[in-house]
Amino acid sequence: MSENSFATDIHIGLTAPLKHISSKYFYDDIGSGIFQDIMKMPEYYPTPCEFEILSLQSDQIFNRLGFDKAFSVVEFGAGDGVKTRQLLKKLIENGADFSYVPIDISKKAIDELVENMRTHLPELKIAPKVGNYFSMMEELSGSDTPSLFLFLGGNIGNYEQEQVKGLLSDFRRNMKAGDKLLTGFDLQKNPATIRCAYDDPQGITKAFNINLLHRINRELGGNFNTTQFDFYSHYNPLNGEVRSYLVSLSPQKVFVQETNHTYSFERNELIWTELSKKYKIPEIEQVATENGFTVVEHFLDCKHYFNDSLWTLS
Ligand code: TRP
Repeated sequence: MSENSFATDIHIGLTAPLKHISSKYFYDDIGSGIFQDIMKMPEYYPTPCEFEILSLQSDQIFNRLGFDKAFSVVEFGAGDGVKTRQLLKKLIENGADFSYVPIDISKKAIDELVENMRTHLPELKIAPKVGNYFSMMEELSGSDTPSLFLFLGGNIGNYEQEQVKGLLSDFRRNMKAGDKLLTGFDLQKNPATIRCAYDDPQGITKAFNINLLHRINRELGGNFNTTQFDFYSHYNPLNGEVRSYLVSLSPQKVFVQETNHTYSFERNELIWTELSKKYKIPEIEQVATENGFTVVEHFLDCKHYFNDSLWTLS
């Protein structure tokens, strides 16, 4: 097997009983571009809802931080930073003494973010880090500077329940008394609204998922015939889970050079690509409590579609 971890993950995923491709592989340069298009779709409410929260309620968020000296704002998976910029701008206007530490695995994303911040918020102190979230977090955890950790967007919703526990225990281990964590949770709402956000009529979401196969073709020498796959997404309002899949339209075999393996697909066989869990407020409170956190305050948009929930260690 190849040294390439993308190849290894694809091989493991495509030989599992329920085939799957990890959603972290959505975001190559092309996939990130398609995701930008998703965020512009009228059906995709999470982005404008969180934008509204951070634009209109950042003074209140600042007031609940309770830091009495210079602090850090550490962001995991900052993306283009447009939403976060609303918060940072308000912190600056409030005269807060802080530096912003965006962390991302992609150097390109970080470079663009820094450029963007320099243009729009030239007075911002920024100390970007490229690398894995938690190795970077451990690097920072030695300091006695109070920290606000940001884990925005639908990020946490993409983790299975067991993984959420692991993730929050990583956060907890690296936080000290008084530090705060602001996490984005997409909320349960009219199921039709959620369904439309995850399966749009123009097929942008389909293209986003099919790009995973193009990516295997491009980077791993795969020979997926992408016209032989469709996209299917399902929202279950009983548990709040959106699960997205690629569907094989015919019995077919696909060879991938990098793994030197042929993968067989039955007609209508699924490749699971993503979980996007929608929460109820009491569920969020339960997740906080069970994982050693206390909710300071929930910050909801006016439609109550999205929650940026501010927590501290219990
Ligand atoms: N992680 C994002 C989300 O949960 C990405 C996303 C948007 C997505 N639409 C999608 C992933 C459709 C798979 C299928 O909102």
